Formats: sequence, C-alpha cells, structure tokens
Amino acid sequence: MSALTIALTKGRLAKKTLALLEKSGIRCDEMYTNTRKLIFEDPDAKVRFFLAKADDVPTYVEYGAADLGVVGKDVLLEKQMDLFEVLDLKFGNCRMCVAGFPEGAGLLQSGADFKVATKYPEIARQYFLKQHQMPEILKLSGSIELAPIVGLADVIVDIVETGSTLRENGLVVLDEVCPVSARLVVNKASMKIRHEEISRLIRAIGNQLENPS
Ligand code: PRP
Repeated sequence: MSALTIALTKGRLAKKTLALLEKSGIRCDEMYTNTRKLIFEDPDAKVRFFLAKADDVPTYVEYGAADLGVVGKDVLLEKQMDLFEVLDLKFGNCRMCVAGFPEGAGLLQSGADFKVATKYPEIARQYFLKQHQMPEILKLSGSIELAPIVGLADVIVDIVETGSTLRENGLVVLDEVCPVSARLVVNKASMKIRHEEISRLIRAIGNQLENPS
C-alpha cells in the first residue's frame, strides 16, 4: 500500500509538528536539510509529508491529496471544510480576539455602525451575528493591527498569542472569540479506507501528547 500523506503547516507550527512526529516514530530529518524538495518520506514508517501554507492544508486534506493534516483551529473555523478533526495537539496555543483601541468597547455596545478588519471574515461574521451585529467586514492578509491605527477599521478580529503586537500599538483585547491550537485532521474517505494505519498513527501521536518523552 502507498505511504500515508500528511500535510503540515509552514511557519509557526512547523517546528513543534515535526518534533511531535519524530517522537511519534516518524523520521523527519530529511526535512531539515537545505533542499528545494517539496515532499519528504519516511519509508520505514510508510509516511510521506509536505509543508503547505496554513490556508491550503484543509484543502489538501478534504480533497484527499493528503490523508492527514496539521493546522490551526483558526483556519478550520474559517474554512469550514468537510474533514474529521481528531486530535487537539495542544501547541500553537493562542486566542482569537476582537481587539481595538480601548474606546472600541463603547462603540461595540453603542449600536452604531462599525468596520472590522480581519484575516478571518467568516469567524468575524459569525461572532458578530451572535451579538446581533452585522458590521462591514474587510478582509486583509496580514498586519491586521494596522487597520485601526490608520483608520481603515474600528476594530479587528485576529489571533493574539503573547499580546505584544497589541500592546506595542496601544490596542487592547475587547472580547475573546475562542481559544485556538493546532489540530490533527483526517480526510473522511481515508479514515474509512485506511482506518487501521490512520488509527495507529493517531494513537502514536495521542500517546506522545499524554506521555511526552
Ligand atoms: C499574528 C497575528 C498578530 C500576531 C499576534 O500575526 O495576526 O498580528 O501574530 O501575536 P502576539 O500576540 O504574540 O503579538 P503573524 O505574526 O502571524 O503575521 P501577520 O501579521 O503577517 O499575519
């Protein structure tokens, strides 16, 4: 049978994901070599894996190009794709928050119109809908904290990890939307067809999370 394919998220989550896979019995050392290769394999573990942008990981998994994926809960909530979320990996911990200048709190309560800047328009839309509010939502790709500073939006919906980006720009958390951490996800068809292999891998990773070596 062919190797199981795992899509990993580039950037902040990559280092901890590779460390967790290594400890779960998958050799990832080929990935640390200075190479332009895009896909790596541990033939003994019958696993191959690749790094992709966070937003793309659920797409690879839903369409079965990868059997499994590691991606933040923020991306899963935003993209609402059809896959199984099987493990909370307990790293990449941060919070999805509504943030802005301290005066933003009054504006949110006032019932006046306001604008929200975010990388996560769907999460923002759903959060404000629960508050019975329908603000204008502006989708940006990064440096979201700039938006209230330069007057593009009144508040932002964004990830807060240490809080230092907010602090250094005079912004504060106005409300918490939800906690965020890295998750292991599985393609639905793969889960049926390759149940035994995938369950073994989930167990190995789960055991490592419970009893870290
Ligand atoms: C994220 C997020 C915040 C920042 C929060 O941005 O969008 O800007 O990290 O982290 P902190 O609470 O530890 O300061 P990222 O660094 O991923 O880059 P981006 O702004 O280009 O999206």
